[in-house]
Amino acid sequence: MKDILQELQERRGTARLGGGQARIDAQHAKGKLTARERIELLLDEDSFEEYDMFVTHRCTDFGMEASKPRGDGVVTGWGTINGRMVYVFSQDFTVLGGSVSETHAAKICKIMDMAVQNGAPVIGINDSGGARIQEGVSSLAAYGEVFKRNILASGVVPQISLIMGPCAGGAVYSPAMTDFIFMVKDSSYMFVTGPDVVKTVTNEVVSAEELGGASTHTKKSSVADGAFENDVEALSEVRRLVDFLPLNNREKPPVRPFFDDPARVEMSLDTLVPDNPNMPYDMKELILKVADEGDFYEIQEDFAKNIITGFIRLEGQSVGVVANQPMVLAGCLDIDSSRKAARFVRFCDAFEIPILTLVDVPGFLPGTTQEYNGVIKHGAKLLFAYGEATVPKVTVITRKAYGGAYVVMASKHLQGDINYAWPTSEIAVMGARGATEILYRSELNDPEKIAGRVKDYEDRFANPFVAAERGFIDEVIQPHSTRRRVARAFAGLRNKKLTNPWKKHDNIPL
Ligand code: HXC
Repeated sequence: MKDILQELQERRGTARLGGGQARIDAQHAKGKLTARERIELLLDEDSFEEYDMFVTHRCTDFGMEASKPRGDGVVTGWGTINGRMVYVFSQDFTVLGGSVSETHAAKICKIMDMAVQNGAPVIGINDSGGARIQEGVSSLAAYGEVFKRNILASGVVPQISLIMGPCAGGAVYSPAMTDFIFMVKDSSYMFVTGPDVVKTVTNEVVSAEELGGASTHTKKSSVADGAFENDVEALSEVRRLVDFLPLNNREKPPVRPFFDDPARVEMSLDTLVPDNPNMPYDMKELILKVADEGDFYEIQEDFAKNIITGFIRLEGQSVGVVANQPMVLAGCLDIDSSRKAARFVRFCDAFEIPILTLVDVPGFLPGTTQEYNGVIKHGAKLLFAYGEATVPKVTVITRKAYGGAYVVMASKHLQGDINYAWPTSEIAVMGARGATEILYRSELNDPEKIAGRVKDYEDRFANPFVAAERGFIDEVIQPHSTRRRVARAFAGLRNKKLTNPWKKHDNIPL
């Protein structure tokens, strides 16, 4: 018996070494942690339950039968993050470059199936050379099995991808179908075809970093939701994110202990909006002052900065925030900001996370670039996402809410539950000057007359009261009491039940 136990220990020891010490050293030399070290940092201490440690590949081509590393290049199992269950897979680059074989993929599929069945998120740590070349089409089929599970699990359990090494070819499409993608600066790449293929096909010369590094995907393509300095930071930030999320679509988001008075008054908010309506101010200040303990987890911080998305807690409960940012492009809606916010709203709605919308929007960005690239269709995504969302929706208009953008930004007309406005709000079809120039075109050559018309329009419409008279705004509130009003609004919506008409699925303008 003792010998058998000894043998188990030895087998485990070999499996834990992955591709061997030399390859582990090479991984460290690149500033990367190993698959197992990453899992250790991601999960609570000693919480990891590993499965399929002894799985080996079955390939007999290219002399593969001579080497059958245990675990086949991926470590899988489950553990806890602050006591809450998550499933995890972590690709081991030291074993055949973390490449995906039939058996490697089967291990991933097994924990994905368990995650859906048992209602817990899946966190995938990607560090792989893609499909295992020696296995040919079998490895493509295996990827297909993973993709299918990504799709079926979408909206059922949260799926989070960490890109911690190369991620090339069709391999990027599994992360692409998960809810969040986080990259590590200077050591992770995502591209459909690498720099060499790009050069052959298009003659473009581009480095891996430029083509698919963290900066490219967080600032230009918006494929990734965030980038971190190193593995350690990325893993600890994912732990923080998981704390905001429910484990599955049948559960409410977690409620954490909080030590911040929900009725906290912030007098400085009374002067946040400048007297001059064309002056910007930082909407993040409002978010931080409303949030429990000023804790804000921003998603896509470096992309479409004219809209802010992320998670806060109110009375300990997770809330998704969408806010126009007057500091960038005057906070207008455009293609990128509409896409960014629409995806976030849909995530929140899928996982029962209430949505707080902070509005200061002068309208949609005009211009040929926007029109030619389909701002109508992309803007409609956000309109659609808000309109179909059945989670509690609380909106605060701080200043401008003009035109179509007013309707889009979680207005009453799109099933908004509680809609507040600050006294500084201007809720109108458009700004005073634009409106006057259309209504009084014949007077345009008389600046004095036009100035009078502008003033009249401002007096009449540049306020929240016209909308409040119609009940489109539930109440005009003092800026300093925003946290209390919003917290109470969400408290009143805790048992909200709203169901949209039955359908197979909708047809959001993709
Ligand atoms: C088998 C692979 C492999 C792969 C890497 N290795 N990728 N083995 N299949 N796809 C092996 C290498 O042979 C090497 O083994 C070890 O992993 C480490 O790789 P290196 O090249 O030494 O590492 P590095 O210099 O860091 O380069 C990493 C890399 C490069 C950029 C990922 O290995 C690479 O370009 N690999 C191929 C990428 C690729 O084209 N994959 C197929 C994509 S198509 P030894 O024993 O020599 O150390 C795809 C289709 C999916 O994925 C479609 C789904 C529908």
